[in-house]
Amino acid sequence: MKKRSNLFTQKIAALTALLIAAVACSSSDTSLKDAFAEDFLIGTAMNEPQVHGTDPEAQPFIIKQFNSLTAENAMKWERIHPDPNRYHFALADSIVAFGQQNDMFIVGHCLIWHSQTPDWVFQDSLGNPLTREALLERMKDHILTVAGHYKGKVKGWDVVNEAVDEDGSLRKSKWLSIIGEDYIQKAFEYAYEADPEAELYYNDYNNELPQKLAGVEALVKNLQQKGVKIDGVGIQGHWHLDSPDLKVLDESITAYASLGMKVMITEMEVNVLPTPPEVYGADISQQAAYLEKLNPYPGGLPDSVQKQLTKRYADLFGVLLKHRNTVTRVTFWGVHDGYSWKNDWPIIGRTNYPLLFDRSYQPKPAYFALIREAKRQK
Ligand code: G3I
Repeated sequence: MKKRSNLFTQKIAALTALLIAAVACSSSDTSLKDAFAEDFLIGTAMNEPQVHGTDPEAQPFIIKQFNSLTAENAMKWERIHPDPNRYHFALADSIVAFGQQNDMFIVGHCLIWHSQTPDWVFQDSLGNPLTREALLERMKDHILTVAGHYKGKVKGWDVVNEAVDEDGSLRKSKWLSIIGEDYIQKAFEYAYEADPEAELYYNDYNNELPQKLAGVEALVKNLQQKGVKIDGVGIQGHWHLDSPDLKVLDESITAYASLGMKVMITEMEVNVLPTPPEVYGADISQQAAYLEKLNPYPGGLPDSVQKQLTKRYADLFGVLLKHRNTVTRVTFWGVHDGYSWKNDWPIIGRTNYPLLFDRSYQPKPAYFALIREAKRQK
């Protein structure tokens, strides 16, 4: 009797091992870009260790899973144009070359932003504020040089990033105070001049929420009335387990589509850590103090939260798939959890789990939920 029961246990163990092998095999056979090939592009943000091969696993992994690429930081003004007479293209060039070699849709991020722009941009050689004309000249030089350098290679530009405040008014940036409201129009015109074939986007966070949505709708209409080319709106998608509401996202995509805009989710992740609601969004000038209770999962994500994350990703993608005729791309802001900026914002030194792959490049349950969701909606 004992012998038979041992045999039975062995058989169960063998079957379980087979099942695990089959699941592992099927995970290595699937990819996000294939699963959503008929729906939208799937992108990731790329950074220095990945493109320079310091992390040897990164490149094959990116090639397998993604068909669109955004430089996480390399094209920001402070990096690509650090001094008045010096452009530094090397890192961004490597990222673009990698994307081209692998047939990826390359996104330029970003031309005009209030953040990560050196102070000298807004000052003359004596440190006095520039005039409107001088700043427009500087903006034009920057956009023609950078977008011109990548002409035909970068297929879509975040021309203006985060220019609208939470209440829907224009952000009180130096661009606005020195040039005036038409700085946005000018940026789009210069980008068009640099590369008439590239898609041109306005990109922001929280712009699916009603007040900010109204501000971005007004911005888009204003450009359209003036005959300025704008192709799409990027909703960054720095989301949480409990916000935004799916209905809000659904309605915002409908609203942008009704203006003829393509919509892309440009910097997606789902934060799982406790975060004060006043720092929902992505304003990197905001910071909060570290407290141990605000970093509850340093040793691993509990199953209960993993389940919430899985459901949340499936629900969000349910909305995006419903709008597959409007949504042209979903870009994740980081390749795996270890690369996410959410480990250090708004509180430095936490352990977050906001992406689809863990720190060892292993797919999380949310990944499989999305693969299933893609199949279910075919
Ligand atoms: O590479 C340097 C390193 O050499 C230095 O030792 C270290 C010390 O501070 O800084 C490192 O650079 C940091 C860089 O990330 C790479 O990790 C910068 O300080 C830090 O400011 C930078 O943060 C980036 C942030 O934008 C500001 O540019 C994040 O990686 C990036 O994910 C984040 O992305 C933004 C989008 O562009 C726009 N939307 C919001 C989103 C999140 O803030």
